[in-house]
Amino acid sequence: MGLTHTAFMEEDVQKGFDPRLARRFFTIVWAYKGLLFLGVGLLMVFRLSDIAAPWITKTAVDAFMNRPDRPVEERLNGVHWLALAFLAIVLLKIAANYAETITTLLIGQRVMHDLRMRVFNHMQSLSLSFFSRNPVGRLMTRVTSDVSALNEMLTSGLVAIAGDIITLAAAVAVMLHYDWRLTLVAFAVVPVMLWGTRIFRRFARQIHRITRAKVARLNAYLSENLGGMKVVQLFRREAENRRRFDEYGRDLYRTHLRATFYSAVFFPFVDIMRATAVALVVWYGGGRVVQDRITLGTLIAFIAYIELFFRPLRELAEKYNILQSAMAAAEKIFSVLDEKAEIVDPPAPEPLPDVRGEVEFDAVTFGYEPGHDVLHEIAFRAKPGEMIALVGPTGSGKTSIVNLLCRFYDVRRGRVLVDGHDVRAVAQRELRKRVAIVLQDVFLFTGTVAENIAMGDRSMPRASIEAAARAVHAESFIRSLPGGYDARVSERGSTFSAGQRQLIAFARAFASDPRIIILDEATSNIDTETEMLIQDGMKRLLAGRTSVVIAHRLSTIQRADRILVLHHGRLLESGTHAELLRNGGMYARLHELQFEAEAPAPAPGV
Ligand SMILES: Nc1ncnc2c1ncn2[C@@H]1O[C@H](COP(=O)(O)OP(=O)(O)O)[C@@H](O)[C@H]1O
Ligand SMILES: [Mg+2]
Repeated sequence: MGLTHTAFMEEDVQKGFDPRLARRFFTIVWAYKGLLFLGVGLLMVFRLSDIAAPWITKTAVDAFMNRPDRPVEERLNGVHWLALAFLAIVLLKIAANYAETITTLLIGQRVMHDLRMRVFNHMQSLSLSFFSRNPVGRLMTRVTSDVSALNEMLTSGLVAIAGDIITLAAAVAVMLHYDWRLTLVAFAVVPVMLWGTRIFRRFARQIHRITRAKVARLNAYLSENLGGMKVVQLFRREAENRRRFDEYGRDLYRTHLRATFYSAVFFPFVDIMRATAVALVVWYGGGRVVQDRITLGTLIAFIAYIELFFRPLRELAEKYNILQSAMAAAEKIFSVLDEKAEIVDPPAPEPLPDVRGEVEFDAVTFGYEPGHDVLHEIAFRAKPGEMIALVGPTGSGKTSIVNLLCRFYDVRRGRVLVDGHDVRAVAQRELRKRVAIVLQDVFLFTGTVAENIAMGDRSMPRASIEAAARAVHAESFIRSLPGGYDARVSERGSTFSAGQRQLIAFARAFASDPRIIILDEATSNIDTETEMLIQDGMKRLLAGRTSVVIAHRLSTIQRADRILVLHHGRLLESGTHAELLRNGGMYARLHELQFEAEAPAPAPGV
């Protein structure tokens, strides 16, 4: 199940209302205070016109319909005008509702965009250690679904709740103003109502949580299977996977059915409560009308207000869930935003003018986790233009040395120097402008081949791009692509072979014209056919630059000025190919092993 699974499972979190998070979210929304005030104003108009409508009916009944003492002409006229007023108020309400919805959507979308940008920018500024701690799937949900959850909190949650509070408060105030006794009678059902809502909310929350977990399980299973389709088909796991998917799917639909069952019980319950309240009002209020304590209009208005009062209660449980998910999302987003970059530029960076390309490791000790060092007292120096090769078993610390040179991590002790400047004393951008790195697993971005070679530099002329490709022998393969340099690169360059991706990466490195170049096992992926080309391309790429080359295939690095042999994070041997062979140490043994493996087996009997 691995990372995808945890990335999905982690979403199954809910959180109660947290004023600290809410306040922080609000400071982001506050950037749109103009729109916000407009929205709140429209919300008031919308909700208060809701409250005003029954008042018009009441006036029509009490002042005109139910007044046989007044002249008929006057009564007809009054009813006529009040009917128009009623229509006007309802139209106003609809218009305000419409405008308010648009305003809220606008605020929501803008806040979402802001948040996405903030999280994205912040993530880009974070150190690599953050990304090795957090799987990509999880970080993606920060920028996508967590941000949407916050938007929902704003549009369906907070605004709706604010509106409901306006309606409830205004309805109660008007009812109390008309007749407090009747109000109390009408609200006799409220305790029962609250009790029922609490129970429902508890079930709803539980079922909501279960549903999310089941959806997560289904998603994880699906993504894993789609990703691993090759293996699935190769091992003919289709039937078994179908069975599992069927099981998870059925489980999910049963859970949904249960959820539907609860709401199917709850909504009629609210309707019964409302009907009971109306019945109580008709019974008690009717009596009071007969006794002439209240007017008929008041009774009619009361019935309308009860409708207004119960409507928001129906959706309360649902909104509560939205709020809870949004709170959890807010917490996760803010925790990313609070993440501090571990690698930061010094307050006053030393300038790095005209780098010559001297690299020095001065007794460097380093570890990714506290208390566990993976490099011990590493010391070496590369003069400008020299080629340094790193050799050693997997896990011996080769890549870690590269990571320190690019300052993706900071040393624990010692110093990494470029042209005599401690890499911690210069700006990261300046340092990385001078260093290019080609990894074994070349990362291509969506766009064209040319864009991938030029990388960040939009202004790079086509001629430089082509020159770079030509220099590393990538030209002929690129020309053969449909569209040549303008051929589209699909997701991560999956349509290219490993060797082709490598050539593009060489061209990319060449185009950036670095003083220092790092190849991390960049040549181990190459088929023998391209090997010669690559070897020559690599030679041209490295010419005149300082280079650090990591390669499994020792033939690649024989001409290095110095070969460093690492073992368990320690520098075991160093020297030229010839020197190390003469020493008869670990390098000589490795070389012998590879030579045996690569040389054709001797014919029997010879
Ligand atoms: N991001 C990381 N977090 C924690 N430990 C790591 C990380 N990357 C590498 N290591 C550990 O550091 C050691 C050296 O790894 P590395 O430099 O990648 O070796 P090499 O490139 O020689 O195969 C290994 O023990 C590895 O498990
Ligand atoms: Mg490595």
